[in-house]
Amino acid sequence: MVVIPFQNIMEDVERLKKEAGVAACDFIKDGMKLGLGTGSTVRYTVIEIGRRISEEGLNVVGVPTSEATRKLALDMGIPLVTLSDSGGLDLVIDGADEFDNDFSLIKGGGGALTREKIVAQSSQSMIVVADDRKQVKTLGKFDLPVEVLPFEWERTRDQISLFCPGDVTLRGGSEPFVTDNGGYILDCSFGPSISEPKSLEMKFHSIAGVVEVGLFVDICDAVVMASNGNVVTLVNDSGRLN
Ligand code: 5RP
Repeated sequence: MVVIPFQNIMEDVERLKKEAGVAACDFIKDGMKLGLGTGSTVRYTVIEIGRRISEEGLNVVGVPTSEATRKLALDMGIPLVTLSDSGGLDLVIDGADEFDNDFSLIKGGGGALTREKIVAQSSQSMIVVADDRKQVKTLGKFDLPVEVLPFEWERTRDQISLFCPGDVTLRGGSEPFVTDNGGYILDCSFGPSISEPKSLEMKFHSIAGVVEVGLFVDICDAVVMASNGNVVTLVNDSGRLN
């Protein structure tokens, strides 16, 4: 048996994140209005955009999907605008926690799912950056993040538990994680069983107290996926890049 040291695995994963994050910048054209996603993979995209602005004179503006990305983008010298001032975006690049063969996504591992969905729905196209660990046959091994109002969140949890087969857990427990919007996150354990993500998304939206659910359906046009040895772009045949 060959034992690969944990540190080497982490370095490999970080390298893949960087490769995917940087490769996605090939889709960026001068003059574009960009949605800037949140997370450790798209972080490399934001850094690369900043590099291209300062070294190559790239002319773009961005709308960040979280306060963390706002800070990073400003540090990188990326001009920012509000969504309403932008008049609509050309492209959003973001990470994902899982994607399936239909390009449906689970997002929200970083807790930014509501802003991420608002920005994605305001964009002409969406590209996801990921390493190949995120590719799944059926969504749900990754606990589905749901942003909820803090008000009577236990009631919201109980309503979700009526159809979620596993645990519904308050992120952060006794010291709840608080989103940029002042919400809480419930992590819902479905297991790899989400074969109808659109109808599940609707079910969540019928519960008062749910702000947004981390299911992104019919919105991702391509995934730039890094695996050991190469980076491939998986294009959604039903997407908007065709
Ligand atoms: C944040 C997200 C992230 O895009 C998702 O969690 C993936 O992050 P990472 O690239 O760090 O694995 O949805 O809300």
